[in-house]
Amino acid sequence: MSAPGEPSGFIHRFIAAKEPDSPLTLLLLHGTGGDETDLLGVGRQLAPSAALLSPRGKVLEHGMPRYFRRLAEGLFDLEDLRARTHELADFVETAAQRYRLASDRIFAVGFSNGANIAASVLLLRPEALAGAVLFRAMVPLVPETMPYLRGRPVFLAAGRRDPIVSPDETERLRRLLSQAGADVTLHWETAGHELTPADIETARAWLKEWATARRDRAPGHGAKERQI
Ligand code: MLT
Repeated sequence: MSAPGEPSGFIHRFIAAKEPDSPLTLLLLHGTGGDETDLLGVGRQLAPSAALLSPRGKVLEHGMPRYFRRLAEGLFDLEDLRARTHELADFVETAAQRYRLASDRIFAVGFSNGANIAASVLLLRPEALAGAVLFRAMVPLVPETMPYLRGRPVFLAAGRRDPIVSPDETERLRRLLSQAGADVTLHWETAGHELTPADIETARAWLKEWATARRDRAPGHGAKERQI
């Protein structure tokens, strides 16, 4: 764990991969009021062997950590969001060097506010992430220049009864990411804004499929079974 003021600048938890050959690092991004411990269990369920990197959002809203400022529910302070997006992407790059993580294997896993900043990183700093699992995300911003997201898979999990993220908003995000070339899988749950066991199970299967496809494409695959 590091404190603000250390080079990484984010209080965070890092848990090394359980298998040296694990094809994944999960960047875990909590919802409003969460912290760096919130999604560790979810990360383990999603990819039992992956490295986990979990920073705490630095913005406080009535004492509740978030990743960027908002003016009201769903109304974002775009200047702050842009600056915080670059700050988080810089953190990911620094952490990748410090913990020797392959940057083409870092997947964001974000919930709510964490999913929104993960989407913003994809849109403004796509090179920082190999892909993303976004639980209950909305369009964080529309970039001036479309990023090139071809080859980057995104799993978008939405709740049909979500009072915060409407189905239209989910569709808008799916379209934006697809237009940028991302390979988007949209999954609907009969749920609200909360994360459900079915969300996690579906995302787990999706990540496993990605890891298997990656393994099958790797030169010399089959020599050794890899786990995610
Ligand atoms: C946000 O502010 O990022 C969204 O409204 C989600 C939330 O944190 O409630």
